Amino acid sequence: MELPFAESWRIKMVEPIKKSTREEREKWMKEADYNLFQLRSDQVYIDCLTDSGTGAMSDRQWAAVMMGDESYAGSSSFFHLKETINKITGFEYVIPTHQGRAAENVLFSHLVKAGSIVPGNSHFDTTKGHIESRKATALDCTIDEAKDTQLEIPFKGNVDPKKLEKALAEHHENVPFIIVTITNNTAGGQPVSMQNLREVRAIADKYGKRVVLDSARFAENAYFIKTREEGYADKTIKEIALEMFSLADGMTMSAKKDGIVNMGGFIATRHEDWYEGAKRFCIPFEGYLTYGGMNGRDMEALAVGLDENTEFDNLETRIHQVEFLAGLLDEYGIPYQRPVGGHAIFVDADKVLTKVPKEEFPAQTLAIELYLEAGVRGCEIGYILADRDPVTRENRFGGLDLLRLCVARRVYTDNHMRVIAAALKNVFDRRNEITRGVEIVWEAELMRHFTVKLKKLF
Ligand code: F0G
Repeated sequence: MELPFAESWRIKMVEPIKKSTREEREKWMKEADYNLFQLRSDQVYIDCLTDSGTGAMSDRQWAAVMMGDESYAGSSSFFHLKETINKITGFEYVIPTHQGRAAENVLFSHLVKAGSIVPGNSHFDTTKGHIESRKATALDCTIDEAKDTQLEIPFKGNVDPKKLEKALAEHHENVPFIIVTITNNTAGGQPVSMQNLREVRAIADKYGKRVVLDSARFAENAYFIKTREEGYADKTIKEIALEMFSLADGMTMSAKKDGIVNMGGFIATRHEDWYEGAKRFCIPFEGYLTYGGMNGRDMEALAVGLDENTEFDNLETRIHQVEFLAGLLDEYGIPYQRPVGGHAIFVDADKVLTKVPKEEFPAQTLAIELYLEAGVRGCEIGYILADRDPVTRENRFGGLDLLRLCVARRVYTDNHMRVIAAALKNVFDRRNEITRGVEIVWEAELMRHFTVKLKKLF
């Protein structure tokens, strides 16, 4: 008999989690103004809000924590981290920051000006926020196929070369750089192919532009290239990562994802002028150059995390679990962004809650229903997260309205996946009775989803 698949690790430490009653959850949800970010984590049974900073560190990482050098300047932990980043990315210059958005803030302070246009593939909301808050434009050039959740193509996160070419032909004078997000979180954790990165490089070269990789989930992207793209099956994840970065000029990194640390980030680049420019903003915003926004111990843990998570076994275990959850949803007929991406399932709420009008935010409604059903916390990646158009102040209903169920790295077991799927099935089975959603009673101007207050209309 063929042996079944099993995790590439065993468990050394556990953390108890608590169930609750539906009655308790009704009360907590109301107190949280129907915003899942406002819940306390002990009111959550299985937390699928994000895969960011929620991973479990390995024994090697915890051991590395003890080796942290907390010197203000010249910390040896910085040099360990820098050497690891140099090896994995090929980028010589490294600036540590406290998380991904801080890397964006520091680098964009140097590069993005009022009137700049930054083309890319579904910029993440903090990326878009850091562009728009500088009175610049984040121009989405993702392939149209990414919007059809039922279409199965291997690299649904790709940049559309035609859209990118057009953007550069029209606006090249105002384009400071192109940003490619690997994997494409907003489109469903969907990968970008090496071929696509090559095409982006060629267009960038034609117009003399540089390319930044938003690399939060670069290792998962490399896994998909290895398993889906012709010519890469025999290459290691580290070889593939190096090739991906060889096609770019620099990167912003949220280390809370594929670095498997709870906090951290960095900028890396091959260009001295970018490093010199960004340095000026790192010191006042983040801290001195050999710690940026990080502790010595966290830099040590990150160096180990980057090394471990660019090994095939670790990534295979992770993606396998996400695929396991997707398989259960297939069994129950629940529609999600296909094929499943690297870090999460993105349930197509528009196709589930067909009776809830878009003005009443179907994906947010589904997130609330799932929490009330079983204490499973997901996250709306939809019309609330899309914010209002900065010029017209209208809601942006043009994109997808998804419920994201993230899988934390090395945290839950497949039994937890079964609970998530069963809870979702229960909501799905009564989808036609759900006809009303929620209404916004208070919102912030930018990144409103974190603090929005809602009223339930059902
Ligand atoms: N880029 C991408 C693609 C991201 O997914 C995130 C964060 C960031 C940048 C910003 O990094 O959080 O370290 O400041 N994504 C988290 C998420 C928050 O839940 O998807 P950060």
